[in-house]
Amino acid sequence: MTRVLRSRAELRAALADAPRPLGLVPTMGWLHEGHRSLFKRARAQNPSVVASIFVNPRQFNVAADFTKYPRNEARDVSICAAEGVDIVWAPPVDEVYVPGFDTTVTVGAISRPLEGAARPGHFDGVATVVAILFGLVGAERAYFGQKDAQQVMVIRRMARDLALPTEVIACPTVREPDGLALSSRNVHLAPAERAAAPVLHRALLEASGLWRSGERSGEVLRQTMRSVLAAEPLAVPEYVSVADALTLAELDRIDASALLSLAVRFGSTRLIDNELLEAPG
Ligand code: PAJ
Repeated sequence: MTRVLRSRAELRAALADAPRPLGLVPTMGWLHEGHRSLFKRARAQNPSVVASIFVNPRQFNVAADFTKYPRNEARDVSICAAEGVDIVWAPPVDEVYVPGFDTTVTVGAISRPLEGAARPGHFDGVATVVAILFGLVGAERAYFGQKDAQQVMVIRRMARDLALPTEVIACPTVREPDGLALSSRNVHLAPAERAAAPVLHRALLEASGLWRSGERSGEVLRQTMRSVLAAEPLAVPEYVSVADALTLAELDRIDASALLSLAVRFGSTRLIDNELLEAPG
């Protein structure tokens, strides 16, 4: 039986007698197969699974994005139930940000480039809400998607630095058959934009293929991704990056692991994707 809870107090009471270990899956709702894969992983590894559904106003640097974020709680709850989630925490804003709330969690260097540069304040909002969730739920494990690679890195850094006892587990990106990474934003794509959107994955595949065949120049891989994107008239690139997988510093030469990532606009919809190049050994 899946229970839907609203307040901090109800959540605390329900968690008091939940079997351990407990797995947490934070979400903003509008659930799709990407989220489902996190629920499945959490379900397989823990006797108790908690999902949160909360569209976090603090992580939207553009207010309109918060307002137009898609929502359908009834559908989300039925997906959670189908995946065997025990507790859905779907609080109103003032149960997350209690009256007088005045704390911001800021993670340093790792949160500044890429999404951090494109969306000022975004990772402060993410780190702050995830710190609250980790504090409230006290899960042994929490599950995040590699789709948002920098987000995983920011949350790992935060959890280590603040000595939060929740282990951060990253799960593989779930894709449509044509390679487009599942995202709540995909619903905003017009049909022609949807048809063009797999170009992100094609750009990543082209660059990762070159790397696999021995190319080690960061600039060659960036240029490769740029030229794949340039062939798609509806795609407006925002950034294309080949960065150190630990520091996110842009690389001239790839000597160890690297993160390929990109952000591309299709009309008013902004999509991101990435691929990790893992150095052998
Ligand atoms: P949201 O976008 O709802 O995503 C919730 C989780 O699902 C994140 O960890 C995200 O990386 C993962 N996810 C999204 N698309 C995925 C895909 N195609 N494959 C695998 N995993 C995918 O990310 C957030 O919410 C918020 O920032 C949150 C962490 C909940 C804090 O508010």
